[in-house]
Amino acid sequence: MTLALAIETSCDDTAAAVVDSQLHVHSSVIESSIDQHRAFGGVVPELAGRAHLTTIGPVVRRALENADLDPHRPAIDVVAVTSGPGLIGSLLIGLSAAKAYALAWEVPFVGVNHLEGHLFAPLLERPDLRWPLVTLLVSGGHSMIVLQHGPGRHEVLGETIDDAAGEAYDKVARWLGLAYPGGPEIDRLAAQGTPGALKLPVSMTGDNFDFSFSGLKTAVVRATEKNPDVALADVAASFQAAVAEQLLRKLRRTLETHSDVEGVALAGGVAANSALRRGVEALASDFGVVSLLPSLAMCTDNAAMIAAAGIYRFEHDGPSDLTLSACPNWALADVL
Ligand code: KG4
Ligand code: ZN
Repeated sequence: MTLALAIETSCDDTAAAVVDSQLHVHSSVIESSIDQHRAFGGVVPELAGRAHLTTIGPVVRRALENADLDPHRPAIDVVAVTSGPGLIGSLLIGLSAAKAYALAWEVPFVGVNHLEGHLFAPLLERPDLRWPLVTLLVSGGHSMIVLQHGPGRHEVLGETIDDAAGEAYDKVARWLGLAYPGGPEIDRLAAQGTPGALKLPVSMTGDNFDFSFSGLKTAVVRATEKNPDVALADVAASFQAAVAEQLLRKLRRTLETHSDVEGVALAGGVAANSALRRGVEALASDFGVVSLLPSLAMCTDNAAMIAAAGIYRFEHDGPSDLTLSACPNWALADVL
């Protein structure tokens, strides 16, 4: 059995986890620097990098101790680390730390694609799942529909042509004067509003699997300028309904055109969204397939998912070379 220590520092969360090749999570530690970014309405790359540098050592130590391992000489077989995509300064801190631990403990290390990590998250909680699987991966930086033929065997069917779904949530929240990150704020407010109160367009109704959210964001700005007295909760509910409808429409189309699919999964930070979770459950039941909704902790960035993807890559492709660099724009389609 392979035991991995994984490190994730692609954005503002410093995370470390210990996971074995049967996908049992021995420990998972996350330290967020979000409080430092809130005043700026978004993640400030330099602040994130500096925070990783001070936090990475204690976070790794806690992950090892929580897994009952000796922090000086842990019985780890491989160190896995996110090497892209993400903020370059943040990635470099995690990658340098991972190389240092691998050298000190004389074990191999493996670079992991952050998006592939998100795709492995549902597996950590549902080892019984069957393939093929369609996954809606929606986060602050990405929105895509991925057909998974097996672990590590994925095909990107469609993706956003402009903003990511989480990015649209954050931008609309900022326009409405809500705190960053805006997704949870809008989700909470939407529960008290009426979805049809504001007439908003549902974008990308064509016969493909791509998304678009920037027009919707502009429509919210225009509509609220025209109706300054509209209740905040109604704006939130109307925006949330339009986002969910677009995402669910494309998921429905995927299930209609891929009849062999066994399950539909959500991944990424926006997978925490209540309307999306309800919609995916209803869709799965309509098509008689399993719905895989990761726990909230497994939706957002964490190192357990990086460990799961890292163990797969290590066992199938071998270790990475110590000369590996960070790839801030590493596309999922370019993963081996
Ligand atoms: O995956 P993630 O933690 O970080 C990356 O972008 O990789 O996703 C963060 C995004 C943010 O844009 C945040 O606003 C959004 O996920 N988010 C939500 C909810 N919770 C987090 N969006 C909608 N509804 C939510 N409940
Ligand atoms: Zn992420």
